[in-house]
Amino acid sequence: MKQAIQQSPERQAFYGKIEGENLAALWNVMGSLITPAPKSPCVPFLWRFRTIRDFMLEAGQLITAKEAERRVLILENPGLRGQSKITTSLFAGVQMVMPGEVAPAHRHSQSALRFVLEGNGAYTAVDGERTAMEPGDFIITPSMSWHDHGNQTDGPVYWLDGLDLPVVQFFDASFAEELGEDEQPISKPAGHSYASYGSNLLPVNLRHASKTSPIFNYPYARTREALHRLQTAGSWDPCYGLKLRYSNPLTGEYAMPAIGTFIQLLPKGFSTARYRATDSTVFTVVEGRGRTRVGETVLAWGAKDIFIVPSWHWVTHEAEDEAVLFSFSDRPVQEKLDLFREDRGNARP
Ligand SMILES: [Fe+2]
Repeated sequence: MKQAIQQSPERQAFYGKIEGENLAALWNVMGSLITPAPKSPCVPFLWRFRTIRDFMLEAGQLITAKEAERRVLILENPGLRGQSKITTSLFAGVQMVMPGEVAPAHRHSQSALRFVLEGNGAYTAVDGERTAMEPGDFIITPSMSWHDHGNQTDGPVYWLDGLDLPVVQFFDASFAEELGEDEQPISKPAGHSYASYGSNLLPVNLRHASKTSPIFNYPYARTREALHRLQTAGSWDPCYGLKLRYSNPLTGEYAMPAIGTFIQLLPKGFSTARYRATDSTVFTVVEGRGRTRVGETVLAWGAKDIFIVPSWHWVTHEAEDEAVLFSFSDRPVQEKLDLFREDRGNARP
């Protein structure tokens, strides 16, 4: 490692002179700007769903979804408190909509994913179409799409929100609008997007300008079926178990432009080989129990818990029961910038 630059009265006087001109000496800060390996302020952490649920119900007594606009508890990484970030590039929160409530229609530059944790039959409307929200469903709100959420069932619904909010903040590119109505007009029947794009068929003469997948609900029933069928082949990747990424059927790219989303099955008793990658990753447990080791930290998880694996930390997962993990990261952005790197340790590709 390069030694820290020695200081002297002459050098200090020079720095004092240039400071007033909005200049600074690179040689004093280069070591912290260009590190030999990623040095994330983000730390490994696990949030228990039952703890969040208790606080959400308390929040439900304090504020309506309408007044809050979105009743969300932000998952703040302990290394990034006060910044509304779960990783340096991503926002995550848990949102609750109580029976009879509506989270009113708005739209914004930030793209959002919803991963349903608990509750059946609430809905999200995106660009004129409603979709029912069932546990394990992965739902997308593309950039600048009108969206509102409602719950006409008799129980609360909870989901994990993931947004590229810090990315948009970094680029100073945030726009947002309110519709001025609780609910947007519905112009398409439920299931229209999935029927148009989700069956290996596409509308003839299709023109789709957005980089986001036109499928906005990837239902868990279909995802689980795919995992179940692939599981019978029994060919497990030592680092991943069985892992798939959600894709945009028009391009084969990730389903969202800035956030990669993944589903992963680990059979009962499976331990993954150690692995590290540059994309800090948010996990939530769809099914099963197990442990994840991140460096020296052990995170014991059960269904609906949410945990974080920071960039370039060695990680292994151990499944006590058959487990399904949903995860998301900024991998698409890193790949576009030629930054993504993974290290499979001693495991063969
Ligand atoms: Fe929103």
